[in-house]
Amino acid sequence: MSALPPAARWLPEKTFEGQVAVVTGGGTGRGLEVSRGLAALGATVVIASRSAEHHQPLLEEARARGWTCAARVLDVREPKLVRECAESVVTAHGKVDILVNNAAGNFVCPAERLSSNAWRAVLGIVLDGTFYCSQSFGKAMIARGAGQMLNVVATYAWTGMPGVVHSASAKAGVLAMTRSLAAEWARFGVRCNAIAPGPFHSQGAQQNLWPDADAERKLREKIPLGRFATAEEVAAQCLHLLSPASAYLTGECLVVDGGATLGSSMWAPGTRFTKKRGAESDAGFDAGESAAAG
Ligand code: COA
Repeated sequence: MSALPPAARWLPEKTFEGQVAVVTGGGTGRGLEVSRGLAALGATVVIASRSAEHHQPLLEEARARGWTCAARVLDVREPKLVRECAESVVTAHGKVDILVNNAAGNFVCPAERLSSNAWRAVLGIVLDGTFYCSQSFGKAMIARGAGQMLNVVATYAWTGMPGVVHSASAKAGVLAMTRSLAAEWARFGVRCNAIAPGPFHSQGAQQNLWPDADAERKLREKIPLGRFATAEEVAAQCLHLLSPASAYLTGECLVVDGGATLGSSMWAPGTRFTKKRGAESDAGFDAGESAAAG
């Protein structure tokens, strides 16, 4: 077992050597790929998530590959537990250099039917959880005068999207938090950035966001690059943002969506624009007609 995990292949070996990284929700999907990449490039990685079962794949791989990884059971909605988790990581590993606020909860539900509990569950994980973790791990970074955070948001934080008002509202808050903390904590040597992935395949997303093939096809048609990302591609961009290549970046949000945000403009990608016969002005094109013909 020697090949690097896909997300780690674009950066020099040992890019994160000597660093301690905490990844919330780091045992599954995109979070797992970020954790694997950081570990493969030399970081000590601590994953923190609700289910101990989700910790096993990374811990087993770490044993086989000689990576340094550990895990904590944590519900990021509980501020006391988050504080204790941060203290235990600092006690065990001496410091925290990187925090990836990756844990999330989401499902599609019409806003008029969303229960207050459902709203609270998603806001609690995404918005409250990101703040509790940023504050608790941030204190350790501030004390050392160095550190960085990467928050996972979504482009609907600024475009809005039907069916996910809870998640969109929470992610918009996280984006504002990213920029606020970037401005506030730069003087302590702490940077905060965000990444906004478009749709990519993961079990959670598939079950909750595009449960059938038709929903998946409709979503895919809106992506100019014509496909979903892979979790590894998103993780590769996370690693790049966390690497020294991005040392002068703070308060920024990188969109990794295959152009999907651009593709949601008025015309469908591939629409041909032709002037109507006899039209005298440039305004006389008919997108619908030529799209049907083309
Ligand atoms: N549609 C509507 N409401 C939903 C829902 C759905 N698909 N899933 C959960 N809810 C509601 C529950 O009904 C409950 O509200 P109620 O008490 O009024 O009935 C509330 O949300 C809390 O749900 P519960 O499952 O008890 O909370 P939880 O804290 O254990 O988990 C989530 C909340 C969001 C994490 C959970 O729904 C979940 O596991 N989602 C899938 C994982 C995921 O989101 N992955 C990321 C995908 S991008």
